[in-house]
Amino acid sequence: MSVHLAMAQTARISISGATTGATVSRDLHGIFFEEISHGGEGGLYGELIQNRGFEESKIPEGCTLDSGFLVPPRTPHYSADQVVDWKMPFEAKNDYPGWSLATSGGAIAHLAVDLSQPLYPETPRSLKITIASMPRTANVAVINEGFWGISVQQGAAYTLTFYSRAEKYNGGMTARLVSADGKTLAEHVFERVQGRGWKKYTATLRAQASDAQATFQVVLSRPGTVWLDFVSLFPLETFRNRPNGLRPDLAQYLADLKPAFVRWPGGCFVEGISPQSAPNWKKSLGPVERRPGTYSPWGYWSSDGLGYHEFLQFCEDIGADALYVFNCGVSCEMRSGVYVEDAHVDTLVASVLEAIEYAIGPQESRWGKVRAQQGHPEPFPLRYVEVGNEQVGERYAKRFNIFYKAIKEKYPQLEILAAMGIAHLSQPTIRTVEKMDIADEHAYKAAGWAMAYADWYDKYPRKDWKLYVGEYACNAGVGAGNMAAALNDATFILGMERNSDLVTMSSYAPLLENIHDTDWPVNLIRFDAGRSFARISYYAIKMLNEHKASVNLATQVAVPVDTVTAAFTGKIGLSTWDTQTEYKDVEVIQDGKVVYQSGVIRKEDWHLTGGQWEVRDSVLAQTKEGAWPLALLNTKSFDRYTLKLKARKTGGHNAFMIPFAFRDDQQYMRVHLGAWLNKVAAFETVTKGADAIVSQPVRLEKPVELNRWYAIELRVNATTVECYLDGKRLMTYHTPADLFAIAGRDDKTGELVIKIVNAVGHARPVSIAVNDLALEPTGTAVVLAAESPDDENSFESPQRFVPQTESVHSIAKHFEYVVKPWSVTVLRARIKRP
Ligand code: AHR
Repeated sequence: MSVHLAMAQTARISISGATTGATVSRDLHGIFFEEISHGGEGGLYGELIQNRGFEESKIPEGCTLDSGFLVPPRTPHYSADQVVDWKMPFEAKNDYPGWSLATSGGAIAHLAVDLSQPLYPETPRSLKITIASMPRTANVAVINEGFWGISVQQGAAYTLTFYSRAEKYNGGMTARLVSADGKTLAEHVFERVQGRGWKKYTATLRAQASDAQATFQVVLSRPGTVWLDFVSLFPLETFRNRPNGLRPDLAQYLADLKPAFVRWPGGCFVEGISPQSAPNWKKSLGPVERRPGTYSPWGYWSSDGLGYHEFLQFCEDIGADALYVFNCGVSCEMRSGVYVEDAHVDTLVASVLEAIEYAIGPQESRWGKVRAQQGHPEPFPLRYVEVGNEQVGERYAKRFNIFYKAIKEKYPQLEILAAMGIAHLSQPTIRTVEKMDIADEHAYKAAGWAMAYADWYDKYPRKDWKLYVGEYACNAGVGAGNMAAALNDATFILGMERNSDLVTMSSYAPLLENIHDTDWPVNLIRFDAGRSFARISYYAIKMLNEHKASVNLATQVAVPVDTVTAAFTGKIGLSTWDTQTEYKDVEVIQDGKVVYQSGVIRKEDWHLTGGQWEVRDSVLAQTKEGAWPLALLNTKSFDRYTLKLKARKTGGHNAFMIPFAFRDDQQYMRVHLGAWLNKVAAFETVTKGADAIVSQPVRLEKPVELNRWYAIELRVNATTVECYLDGKRLMTYHTPADLFAIAGRDDKTGELVIKIVNAVGHARPVSIAVNDLALEPTGTAVVLAAESPDDENSFESPQRFVPQTESVHSIAKHFEYVVKPWSVTVLRARIKRP
């Protein structure tokens, strides 16, 4: 069938107005903030000076520095039960990261970090500027580069605060914002800086011109010694104009999502790289000058200016509930896995109870009083607490039980979340947990997974707890995030909404990325010092959240299956993954005829890349460990055919990999026999360098044996691929659907809401039948569409792909609506009163 005919085929969506499904949780879509990729420091947090307190060359507590690496305590790992050798590079480039010195006119000066007379004991470091010689026309400038530049706007005002002391210095100091090409954009002169004790200085700098890459400079013009500490520069305008506030454009993106809750502060950030270096809520309270900061496992210091109080305040400001994640005495298990012994968990429990008291305790309580002293007598909207992040297993579950009991006893109104790890629920945790309110499963997936597993949550058993998908994203095979990612994310969201009796909360991750320090491949909102844009996925989440139904209605989707066009056209190949394997007797049969037979291998038939391939008579052998070796049969492409071959494993961890439907190295499928360390078989896709399992893995009866020849057969039909091992059918792959829909009733507005994802590049007529509901003929369509799956918003065109609203006039019991290529659509139709 031609593409044209396929386009003309009408898909059907049937909605039963009388059959209700799950109630859609009002809390379904929230946000998750973590200090990763400078999401907070140099991001959401409004501070413009990097390393304002000169603390950032200090070694995180509990760690040592060895040849440029941070080394955690060498004690046994929490779940591996043995000492692991994990370490991470310490990225501080010098003793005063972010700062530098420039001299002119023959001045002689130098910088050093000094601990001799701390401004505060908690933040003992300051910058000592020694000026040995200063000829009349000379200058010394101490420069802060901001976070990859400071974006200065003409006319905008900036609040400068710093502390200084001096010795044998008889002069003033000029604070300046300077453009990248050296022009002064704003300036304030402090006539005299003197005194052996610390003194606070403040000024407002008003910019005369703009520059996106400005620096902040302190200029000195006399010899002597001057110390600086806590040099802070904030734009006067912050989100809701709060002092010590947030960057307005980024905070507004988050507020516009109207999140039901904010999960904070991580992620791996919560776990830290040693229990001592993990975030401590108490140290993130009070005067910002006294906060020692937290070292993020993502490789940089957070000043904790966006601390516990600021998090709670932000939740209140945007009308969201607070979800506070605390460290349960275990540092990141993907990293060091260092832990606090069970005997000391009491201290942690006490600290969490105090944190909760700070958030919601009465003003008369010890920590409620501290909150009131910080200017917030009323309780904050704390509703959830989570015990650790991504810890799993029996040992964690036992620890969870201790926290659960203690917190519930005092705060029965709070909902308590158990971590579950990535990809699926941890059964050992579930078996051991005595009681939990919500399980937090994380779901990072590659392109195509959401379509192949559109019914993922439909199959989850329902228990006496709810599910929170605390971190989800399609983040592989989609570049830095594009329309394909948005279509995957939207499909995934439809699955969560349909199953909202179980999945009551979700949050995309990660949220924010300073493009100059990307720690994670795909993030929702991208920014630099002055610019920002939200990816198409952001708009998909926003529109699906804005158009949440109150209750689902039973919805059937029927997409005509094109059984004529071959879905798996492409070349075939041989591959392995961390395995040595021999292949022989490759045969392709089409229409009963053998169209290829390897026989004695002809080297010119095969394009060999990666690994180490050897041709031995009739055998093609891959002899090296490692990923991505490929022998591609380059003679021709096949559509419907049977592929037969023999394979023998000679070493390594997994077994056989047979690429097929190979369009190019950016897009193909493969059968993996003996994946997951020779335990399962599955179909996989490879999209732009990322692989994803796209079929339910089938457990092998027994692992593939070494040095034994196996017969493999793939029967590739128009829409299915059957895989046989030694004559026995192992698994079948069906082309996944590319149109997804759910429907529901919005009881607030009295409307029917239909959500449709069209994940193909052609417009598609959809015949919609609505039973047991009478609808007004005119409704609206909110459409988020792109021209290609590779499309994305950008700094230059931040709003290129955003939802568009249009009227729809043809609504009836049966009506036709044409969905756009590569689109997410929400249709709304008013329900007539009976
Ligand atoms: O979102 C990035 C990381 O992914 C989080 O820190 C962690 O929880 C997860 O593994």
